[in-house]
Amino acid sequence: MEFREVVRRRRMVRRYDGAPVDEDVLTTVLGAGLRAPSAGNSQGRDLLVLRSPQDRALFWDTSARPGPADAWLAGMRTAPVVVLLLADPGAYARRYAAADKPGPDRDAATWEVRWEDVDTGMSGLLVLLAAVDAGLGACFFGVPTVAHAAVRQAFDVPSDRRIVAAMTLGHPAPDDTSRPSRTHRRTLQDAVHEGRFGAPWTG
Ligand SMILES: Cc1cc2nc3c(=O)[nH]c(=O)nc-3n(C[C@H](O)[C@H](O)[C@H](O)COP(=O)(O)O)c2cc1C
Repeated sequence: MEFREVVRRRRMVRRYDGAPVDEDVLTTVLGAGLRAPSAGNSQGRDLLVLRSPQDRALFWDTSARPGPADAWLAGMRTAPVVVLLLADPGAYARRYAAADKPGPDRDAATWEVRWEDVDTGMSGLLVLLAAVDAGLGACFFGVPTVAHAAVRQAFDVPSDRRIVAAMTLGHPAPDDTSRPSRTHRRTLQDAVHEGRFGAPWTG
């Protein structure tokens, strides 16, 4: 598929048709996530794939917010694949302590943003795009903070990893109602500035 078509078609899919994802296709899609850039080439991200019905049910049960379930989660539960996106801050601390990384940013604690989270998000985006290219649907979503401890325990996530997000993957259901929110999509004139903040892009 043409890259611009992949970008155009990408949207979050929140209901799936129940068909399994071909193993080779899944491997290709996950591999795309590892092609993402990372600060210092630290590559501090791991993808934890949940495929068995038992593991998926355990994920949805442990990741639920207390209280009534959100309606969109019923559709998400139809996904044959769930992927946890984990960031590894230690990989960055080790990389930036290396001899070839002199400079004021050696101490990761001084960084203005958490690059491990940025990089893990970039991996997620590449998985989203690769899924579209493979004819699949996917949705990137947050795991509620209150659920992190239970999710960690359920899937042996080490305490030094950050749970950044999760994704569902599968074949979109014909009745999936998720649509890109075009009405709320900011325009180039609104969101792209040139020269000075507030000066709209006119290209
Ligand atoms: C960091 C992040 C967190 C998100 N969390 C959720 C979520 O918890 N639930 C959900 O349904 N969608 C979630 N989304 C998807 C957004 O709602 C979606 O990207 C946005 O509405 C634009 O729609 P589109 O991606 O289909 O174009 C999240 C997206 C991002 C990037």
